[in-house]
Amino acid sequence: MTLTLDTYRQLGRSGLRVSPLALGAATFGNDWGWGAEQDEARRLFDLYVERGGNFIDTAVTYTNGTSERMLGEFAQDRRDSLVLATKYTTLRRPDDPNSGGASRKSLFGAVETSLRQLGTDYIDLLYLHVWDSTTPVEEILRGLDDLVRQGKVLYVAISNTPAWQIARLQTIADLRGWAPLVALQLEYNLIERTGERDLLPMARELGLGTVLWSPLAGGVLTGKYSRADLTASSPADGESARKSFNVALGGVTERSLAIVDVVKEIATELDRTPAQVGLAWTLQNPDVTAPVLGARTVGQLRENLGALEVDLTAGQVARLNAVSAIDLGFPHAMLASDHIRVQTRGDLKIQARA
Ligand SMILES: NC(=O)c1ccc[n+]([C@@H]2O[C@H](COP(=O)([O-])OP(=O)(O)OC[C@H]3O[C@@H](n4cnc5c(N)ncnc54)[C@H](OP(=O)(O)O)[C@@H]3O)[C@@H](O)[C@H]2O)c1
Repeated sequence: MTLTLDTYRQLGRSGLRVSPLALGAATFGNDWGWGAEQDEARRLFDLYVERGGNFIDTAVTYTNGTSERMLGEFAQDRRDSLVLATKYTTLRRPDDPNSGGASRKSLFGAVETSLRQLGTDYIDLLYLHVWDSTTPVEEILRGLDDLVRQGKVLYVAISNTPAWQIARLQTIADLRGWAPLVALQLEYNLIERTGERDLLPMARELGLGTVLWSPLAGGVLTGKYSRADLTASSPADGESARKSFNVALGGVTERSLAIVDVVKEIATELDRTPAQVGLAWTLQNPDVTAPVLGARTVGQLRENLGALEVDLTAGQVARLNAVSAIDLGFPHAMLASDHIRVQTRGDLKIQARA
């Protein structure tokens, strides 16, 4: 089925409608050494919204604030029709512990900074960016709810947090009548599937839309990394800063390259590119609301948007699932075993006999 950016989907159990691919604005600005300069970032934004895209992802500290500043400028004449998502918790000032983390002080400071940088008076979707393992859940939820009541934030969401903490937050928000979490942002792609253990099932059960970061594993799934990168001690001259980052972080392994090999085979069968196949695999998952595209150039963005038109066959999905399969671990593997199913669901056995 061909999708388009204006085939909007509801975000979790909210009434908010978003495009099936979000535009990542972490590449707006070159402050981190691998982004797009202002003119190219403008072209990325224009191409995305011209195709009907409405869902744009940033964070208060992306490219040291340049991302939000550029986005705010580009969005000015269509602010009302865009869903601007930003995030708080990353440190805004290196020597000030209260300028980061999940606390109420950090939250209110970050939101004021984002509003100023974006040049807007409200944020559509605010994520807690990274769990700080410190702030009490009531402090977080109450602060988020206050911002919603003030109208500075319309919806709240969470990223990079253990499933059991998110389940606890959502349950407490429900019981107290505080603004519920409407979305989860997680790293999920053919190379990183561990979200299938708890995060994705939790999101389905608790009504959180799922937004994927690094759907191409930072570019590894585009097929431009090779076995030579496994042993490279330092990047060759002219290689992108992003490449050095991916290699240093261990994103290029025998396992990931074996997955890329199958992605490339299927891309050839479909006369598509590996990036399009990698993204199409995320799009065919009914648990996924919207992967966030991380394009650095207009050419990359145009190519990646082509994933909306890719129809993988059931056989191709099965091959991709097989090469990238993960061990679900305890208790999931045990619960799925025949032995346990018979012990705990004997009723089904009786029905089957009848
Ligand atoms: N919640 C979080 O903690 C979190 C974390 C990370 C990202 N995010 C969000 O998710 C967005 C996407 O993340 P990501 O940048 O990691 O996504 P990604 O799609 O996995 O990787 C994007 C990078 O891959 C390369 N690339 C993309 N398309 C390509 C193509 N067609 N051909 C060749 N290379 C291509 C580009 O890097 P080069 O060309 O430089 O190699 C690009 O910057 C970010 O913008 C941000 O909004 C959120």
